[in-house]
Amino acid sequence: CGIVGYIGKRDTQTVLLEGLKKLEYRGYDSAGIAVFTKEGLQIAKSIGRLANLESKLEGAPLVGTAGIGHTRWATHGKPSDVNSHPHTDHSQKFSVVHNGIVENYLELKEELIGQGYEFVSETDTEVISHLVAREYEGDIVKAVQKAISYMRGAFALGVLTEYEPNKLVAVRQASPLIIGLGEGENFIGSDIPAILNYTRNVYILNDGEMAVLTEDAVELMTIEGNFISREMISVDWDAVTAEKGGFDHFMLKEIHEQPKAYRDTMLGRIDASGRKVVLPGLKLTDDKIRSINSIHVVACGTAYHAGLVGGTAIEQLVRVPVAFDVASEYRYRSPLITPETLVIVVSQSGETADTLAALREAQANGAHVLAVTNVVGSSIARDADDVIATLAGPEIAVASTKAYTSQLIAFYLLALYMAQVRGTKSPEEVAHVIAAMQSLPEQVESMLANTDAIKTYAEQIAKHEHLFFIGRGLDYAVVQEGSLKLKEISYIHSEAYAAGELKHGTLALIEEGIPVIALATQDSVLEKTVSNIKEVKARGADVMAITHEEHVAGLLRSVDQAFAIPQTLPLLTPALSVVPLQLLAYYASLERGNDVDKPRNLAKSVTVE
Ligand code: G6P
Repeated sequence: CGIVGYIGKRDTQTVLLEGLKKLEYRGYDSAGIAVFTKEGLQIAKSIGRLANLESKLEGAPLVGTAGIGHTRWATHGKPSDVNSHPHTDHSQKFSVVHNGIVENYLELKEELIGQGYEFVSETDTEVISHLVAREYEGDIVKAVQKAISYMRGAFALGVLTEYEPNKLVAVRQASPLIIGLGEGENFIGSDIPAILNYTRNVYILNDGEMAVLTEDAVELMTIEGNFISREMISVDWDAVTAEKGGFDHFMLKEIHEQPKAYRDTMLGRIDASGRKVVLPGLKLTDDKIRSINSIHVVACGTAYHAGLVGGTAIEQLVRVPVAFDVASEYRYRSPLITPETLVIVVSQSGETADTLAALREAQANGAHVLAVTNVVGSSIARDADDVIATLAGPEIAVASTKAYTSQLIAFYLLALYMAQVRGTKSPEEVAHVIAAMQSLPEQVESMLANTDAIKTYAEQIAKHEHLFFIGRGLDYAVVQEGSLKLKEISYIHSEAYAAGELKHGTLALIEEGIPVIALATQDSVLEKTVSNIKEVKARGADVMAITHEEHVAGLLRSVDQAFAIPQTLPLLTPALSVVPLQLLAYYASLERGNDVDKPRNLAKSVTVE
């Protein structure tokens, strides 16, 4: 998850460790470095904190003039010493650090094993080191180009070989990488903070580009080998801004990382034809999927809200009854669990004690437990019978954003997969949903390019102490998340209500000028939602509606203002409609001068019941 590389006269080990330290804030589970020393290319790596790696190196430092380093956030293969980067090949003459995902690594791995290459780790990265070794014919640049021509997916690479110790090769393909320029030394980094101690002059690589670094020069080219030139940029960020990628807060950065998180979570899980979901590594067999007669979705907080949407998607597409529980309640209500029950636990951190306890309860009663989690090596991931990893990358802000939306994507994939197996949706219907899912990242990008209206509205609501969210169907699930987000970071009290339920009591709280945010995207219940909007308008509420573009004009007859989101299938709308609600919470918190990333009283991961 963090890459740093160095070539020059300084003590390479120190440069690498210092660089990695600057990336620690992003979260990682293991770390390693490779240095070209007098004895050749040497690697040191260790699970856990950088301090573990440092103590390994204490007695036997790696002294040399070129090196690469990495902090890993497990995606393929659990956190361990051997799964840590850098990876090498059987000759130990090549060394690779990698961020991202090699989508077709299983195919490549099989091919390489067939050719006699031996694998020691479970990672997709090890495939790259063997490929580079296989393709090497005296020119490391050509070997890397050849290797990546076989690879699909997202990757940023740093590659060293003992045969050409004066060269460091870097590649960027849909995973960020920058080149730092010094005097008689050069650097690579996945992020600016990694190199900021040493230089402020950088080249930013674009997708499909690579760089060859020596002490004195940096050559830039496309991955096909055509030389290119790039203007040098001088970074004027301070260290704190640099950590946030230029955003004011981690939360805003993570909101903006959602298109990438959607793409990464879908990567390798939709077949090449774009018509079928594949879930490599899933232990849930087709027979087992056919035998399931009930599903429990169990989680806490934001993950629970993702479960509400996800479980509904499964119920709609697979036609199996789904029950929802917050994890702290699940065990204590004696849920009916049988071997035909599929229990889906959802947890960003994979460490939430309530969720872990629910998982154990379910397993003790014979259920198959599938975890949707963002942390591959977490307790929940280890204990569950099955894992679908969300590939959102580390989430740092306490208020969850990209993890929630990636959980939605994971659920949609699972729902489609189960529908394929049980035949509850035709191949055409599945393909139709997949096509719409593939448009989501761009649609989120378009919303993020134009956030002024939400910002202005957030400044208005920041003056209030109470407000309401209403919606029906999946909109109701989404407003529960919108309301939680607002409470967590702006400290404004809000209630999310099923729009039709308001009149059964809560309407008593509606008074002149109270803001009501109505999510009205679900066509089948749109008219009914409009009636509920009229009920609150009649009592003096100030209503803001979020709806699809086509409904804005109509709704503006009943509401005070409306915000449009792009068109998609009703089932997928939550993956778009939650974005303005996240931004609303963010800007309201900002307006109130709160600590956006670290709200009072809350922790990112709660490991007590
Ligand atoms: C904590 C966090 C919430 C989070 C919940 C579940 O309460 O403050 O933001 O939604 O835990 O966390 P998990 O890691 O299990 O998704």
